[in-house]
Amino acid sequence: MSSYDVIVIGAGPGGYVAAIRCAQLGMKVACIEGRETLGGTCLNVGCIPSKAMLHATHMLHEAEHNFADMGLKGKAPSVDWQQMLDYKAKTIAQNTGGIEFLFKKNKIDWIKGWASIPAAGKVKVGDDTHEAKHIVVATGSAPSGLPGIEIDEKIVVTSTGALELPKIPKTMVVIGAGVIGLELGSVYARLGTEVSVIEFLDGITPGMDAEIARQFQKMLTKQGLKFTLGAAVQGVSVKNKKATVTYKLRKDDSAHEVTADTVLVATGRKPFTDGLGLDALGVELTDRGQIKTDGKYATNVAGVYAIGDTIAGPMLAHKAEDEGMAVAEVIAGQHGHVNYGVIPGVIYTHPEVANVGETEETLKEQGRAYKVGKFSFMGNARAKANFAGEGFVKILADKESDRILGAHIIGPMAGDLIHEICVAMEFGAAAEDLARTCHAHPTYSEAVREAALACGNGAIHA
Ligand code: NAI
Repeated sequence: MSSYDVIVIGAGPGGYVAAIRCAQLGMKVACIEGRETLGGTCLNVGCIPSKAMLHATHMLHEAEHNFADMGLKGKAPSVDWQQMLDYKAKTIAQNTGGIEFLFKKNKIDWIKGWASIPAAGKVKVGDDTHEAKHIVVATGSAPSGLPGIEIDEKIVVTSTGALELPKIPKTMVVIGAGVIGLELGSVYARLGTEVSVIEFLDGITPGMDAEIARQFQKMLTKQGLKFTLGAAVQGVSVKNKKATVTYKLRKDDSAHEVTADTVLVATGRKPFTDGLGLDALGVELTDRGQIKTDGKYATNVAGVYAIGDTIAGPMLAHKAEDEGMAVAEVIAGQHGHVNYGVIPGVIYTHPEVANVGETEETLKEQGRAYKVGKFSFMGNARAKANFAGEGFVKILADKESDRILGAHIIGPMAGDLIHEICVAMEFGAAAEDLARTCHAHPTYSEAVREAALACGNGAIHA
């Protein structure tokens, strides 16, 4: 039996960051991980592999659509699927290996295996029981699926199977027009797959600023994705290596079906806490299966904390990372906290979509007076030169004080551009503060400044 100050269960972005920060703050730390490699869903079967596939297929799309116009003539590259999967695997290995290196550097013990918590202060892995003053549960999430739909990860897949298909399917049905469905749907649409997306609601990407969501849907439609909205999926059956999805349109209850080589079920994720023994330990959960925590990530059981996808809030790697740092500081007696009002969200399609803070819809709900500053990438010289003029930046600011309340970007590098607005919001900036900040020319970020200018006396290039 070994004894630690902190045992972190789970080595995803929440867990590994918590472990590193605890070690940096002088604690003796172990991190328990059941997978063969560190990094959790994000590095192994989520954010990182999907970004590799999005990058490779975006390059293909550029070669097919824009190279000739720039004077780059010749045949567009053909796809070697196995090599693309190998590139993805190499990217994963570099990243998971990087976390292993960081664990060694910070003298964190990686205990391999699946953990349970038999009692406060004790963690069991296989036949071994370890002691810890503090236990951090960071076990992430798993696809929530739909009742009556059996996932085989070959024909009916979650994101995990979709990243490992043995060949590029001719047809694919995506159930759910959320982040996973649209990112992976884009990957396969670029590879020539006919992609149909079936979504329960009347719009895509629920929670996103509605104007941006409508523009996003138009752009994806242009890229070849087909959308059936307001449709409740009833079931999926597999016959002769083909899957048939049955659904009902909510407006008239009419029944329909569509058959495809692959069905991607992307209808959300749920906390993954199986096998931890939380029930026996008496840890309180919400009715959605999330672990209940106080403002300091403490559960109702003394010495047991929880972070990331296992607790409330958006299921995002960077939200989990921030909570990982915060919980380490809390355990060390410091004042770790996360500003949940300034957590960016990014969809890594092309163009990217990024948001932070309030949407027009949430501001209307709150009855707050706000103004909108918008700027189209068509007015941005760099974007025009790079065939990236589609999309816009939208900043929402308080009508009286000019304080930035939210921002939404659809366009080139949106996922990077959003961060100057996050920093501005963190400092309580007004739109005028951004507007008066000199931005280098020619850069995409000038579009952010122009949107800030549009909140005041007007954009220059509009
Ligand atoms: P999601 O919650 O983003 O979207 C699920 C969609 O499925 C919703 O639009 C919902 O209305 C729809 N849906 C649910 N039941 C349905 C039914 N019976 N028929 C048709 N449509 C139905 O969930 P998703 O895409 O699975 O992602 C899971 C989590 O992972 C999310 O929290 C997401 O934020 C996170 N994630 C984040 C990424 C990023 O930040 N770039 C990338 C991938 C995942």
